[in-house]
Amino acid sequence: MSAILEDGAAARCLIVDDDAQVRQVLTRVIATQGLSPMEASSGADALSVLKRIGEVPVCISDIYMPEMDGVTFLREALQRYPDMAIIMLTGMAEVNTAVECLKLGALDYISKPVMIEEVRARLHKALEKRRLVLENRFYQQSLELRVRDLDRKNRASLINGVQMLVHALEAKDAYTSGHSSRVSRYALKTAVQLGFTDDALEQIRLGGELHDIGKIGTREAILNKPAPLTPEEFVHIKEHSTLGEKILAPFLSQSPVVLRIVRSHHERVDGSGFPDGIRGHQIPLEARLVAVVDAFDAMTTNRAYRPQLPIPQAIDELRRCAGVHFDPEVVEAFLKAHGNGATLPIT
Ligand SMILES: [Fe+2]
Repeated sequence: MSAILEDGAAARCLIVDDDAQVRQVLTRVIATQGLSPMEASSGADALSVLKRIGEVPVCISDIYMPEMDGVTFLREALQRYPDMAIIMLTGMAEVNTAVECLKLGALDYISKPVMIEEVRARLHKALEKRRLVLENRFYQQSLELRVRDLDRKNRASLINGVQMLVHALEAKDAYTSGHSSRVSRYALKTAVQLGFTDDALEQIRLGGELHDIGKIGTREAILNKPAPLTPEEFVHIKEHSTLGEKILAPFLSQSPVVLRIVRSHHERVDGSGFPDGIRGHQIPLEARLVAVVDAFDAMTTNRAYRPQLPIPQAIDELRRCAGVHFDPEVVEAFLKAHGNGATLPIT
């Protein structure tokens, strides 16, 4: 029997019985099993022993005792120490109660008068069962941890891969170098101002970085065109929001906010945006947020088709378009998050 603990001490077995003679017999049997016996004369006594010494691996308890009977003790003990193996002692007439105890979580029962061989066999079986339950739980927990860790690593390496795509995209278009990273940082500060926290913040940060990923499918000549786009070219470049969502969807099914940002960052609150032409609160707040900071960064950096605007003019433009293109609350949160414009632009 595996009754020796890791630190070399014998595992404790608590005997709960109001009959001193029964306790004496069991103490002798248990000691020969390499277990360290402890005694209690009632359920209440047993609970106070456990409170003092902590959980024991195995416990043998009589059913009928004064003060607190075995059934109540079983219930209370398992509530506090759910992994304790409890074996009930029962007289011939108490089989129904013993079965009730098994339903409540006792591992086994021994009939009185106690037979030494039977006690040994039941103890062995109970300890073995407990060992299996604990081992099983340990493997399950370590498996869950490993799966979670693997999931986290997979996700991180996927996101790294996608971020490399963003850099590849920015290399195609010299004018947008650093745009995604700035949009991401503007978005994060604005999101904090709007009260976003935890995972939502992380998704907004990532969504800001990946919002234009679909431009990987836009022809370079159009990205770098130093003149207004033709209607056909505009249709082509507009596809980047749905294409971006399509590229990311297989990797980011657990990050719906990122996908919403990528799809809807060109929607306008008056419904004149794309790809869905949705308006107002139909547009996810996170996408309304990225729309503002995306436009601000686009206005305040040089583009192939026009030079950058001075910061005060870009702020005026945001305010002028608030309620038409942009969500006014987001515009104000963006400015407030950046010292009412004093700390703009970020570098
Ligand atoms: Fe875009």
